[in-house]
Amino acid sequence: MTMPTPLHSPTATDAPWWRHAVIYQVYPRSWSDADGDGIGDLRGITDRLEYLADLGVDALWFSPFYRSPMADAGYDVADYRDIDPLFGTMDDYDALAAKAADLGLRIIVDLVPNHSSVEHVWFRAALADGPGSEARARYIFRDGTGPGGSEPPNNWTSVFGGRAWTRVTEPDGTPGQWYLHLFDTGQPDFDWTNPQVHAEFESILRFWLERGVAGFRVDVAHGLIKRAGLPPWDGPAETRDITGPTNAAPFWDQDEIHDIYRRWRALIDEYSTPGHERIMCAEAWVTPPERAALYVRPDEFHQSFNFDYLYTPFEPAALRDVIAGSLALADGYGAPTTWVLSNHDVVRHATRYGYATTGRGALGIGPQDPQPDAALGLRRARAATTLMLALPGSAYVYQGEELGLPEHTTMPSEFRQDPTFHRTHGAVIGRDGCRVPLPWVKDAPAYGFGPGGSWLPQPASYADLAVDQQTGVKGSTLELYRTLLRLRREHSLGTGGLAWADGFGDEVVALVNTGGEGGAVTVVTNLGAEPVALPAGARVLVSSGALTGDGAVPTDTSVWFTVGAA
Ligand code: NOJ
Repeated sequence: MTMPTPLHSPTATDAPWWRHAVIYQVYPRSWSDADGDGIGDLRGITDRLEYLADLGVDALWFSPFYRSPMADAGYDVADYRDIDPLFGTMDDYDALAAKAADLGLRIIVDLVPNHSSVEHVWFRAALADGPGSEARARYIFRDGTGPGGSEPPNNWTSVFGGRAWTRVTEPDGTPGQWYLHLFDTGQPDFDWTNPQVHAEFESILRFWLERGVAGFRVDVAHGLIKRAGLPPWDGPAETRDITGPTNAAPFWDQDEIHDIYRRWRALIDEYSTPGHERIMCAEAWVTPPERAALYVRPDEFHQSFNFDYLYTPFEPAALRDVIAGSLALADGYGAPTTWVLSNHDVVRHATRYGYATTGRGALGIGPQDPQPDAALGLRRARAATTLMLALPGSAYVYQGEELGLPEHTTMPSEFRQDPTFHRTHGAVIGRDGCRVPLPWVKDAPAYGFGPGGSWLPQPASYADLAVDQQTGVKGSTLELYRTLLRLRREHSLGTGGLAWADGFGDEVVALVNTGGEGGAVTVVTNLGAEPVALPAGARVLVSSGALTGDGAVPTDTSVWFTVGAA
């Protein structure tokens, strides 16, 4: 090997936790069900929290558990300061938080500021009080166009399909105004030009900060501000379908949005103390990357999911480009990169990588679609995670990926609950396939998820992937994740500097993470057809799959190794 080419300078090893944390996303409906209603709950999480401490993650992000009629699995919030009875009570939350603190796990909650539920007290008042009322001005109500106002105010469509407007019946029983909902009909958008909306969300932030949370994952962080006058937009609403800059759409990534986050950052900083820093992480589906990076300017978000990385094809040049590009952009603002491969909105990466063409793929896979090569997908997913966890910065892990779970790609339509599926009349399969309840025990009802079945059917392939089948089993995906997370911590890879490890071919992604006291670690991911030999003196720490008989790295396999004296 020749001298490495630097990509990123090290961060102080005593830097705040969020600069290097591995954060595990819990989707509460599907993690563990204690009360036996077939839907996961907070007690179920508390009961099994040791599993997450043993896994070796630093923090947990909970998808919404607030009071909600569940039009969008809880992303339609009726009360931002209460727990939905499906998930438990505020006492259950406090018990969960206390145990998490004992286990050294920080908690990040989901904040949903773009829209509420139609059952939120403000929206009920907006309907009851009628046009021109103070209550209506907290949402985006407009008169319709056309004869009698029977056509929507403009041509915007919903991200989930269909119109972005719904007409209401006024208190006097007549057909009335329309309200905007970029997502489901049950998710009316707030009007963020209204100071009352700002005050309310600042109060909600304080409510959860005072309950001790370590931070917020901010839902649809790119959507709060709509261009003045609500001009027409002929393009798609779904960001993944927008070609070119996302802010061409008059409802995404508008410049004024950053003022909101500057205020929130100042508020959150009031609650941060050394060792107990509070953070916010943006869910901002924004292109180009230069605009996405604006969300992590020093006085805005601490983190922003690196969705470019998530969508990058499993190909060497594309991976090299996105790694180098992401680090350069984040470094430009002194922010950590926030690597991620899966979440509750995308096809699981063990399935995305099971196709000849990788990358963005479809929004959900159904029984009629070409089916993935599961073995290929899992092998590549393990290699991809092994690469990701060697990178400096923060990383998110989505529940079940540590088991190598695939998407449920053959779920019958009658079980589907994602509003996307219903609003597009099945044209878009949607996200149910990545939200299936976790398998804990092979030989138990609902694979041990809970005594009362499972709100979405679990595929048969989950049996052998259950936690009890993988725990302590050498080479299992669960043990791979545990090993990677332990080594990442021991070698301080989250705060390491990064350089290309030169001397490998084009089909290989090879990087040296300078690490901390544990010493430098080289990661090699072989995406070519031929095995790749390791340099003389390489001591393998972990590999995503078996090496060849003579110790070379096979196709679709990643290895971490050190060089030199032990
Ligand atoms: C992003 C969330 O991750 C997704 O699940 C939800 O449907 C939309 N935002 C709307 O809240």
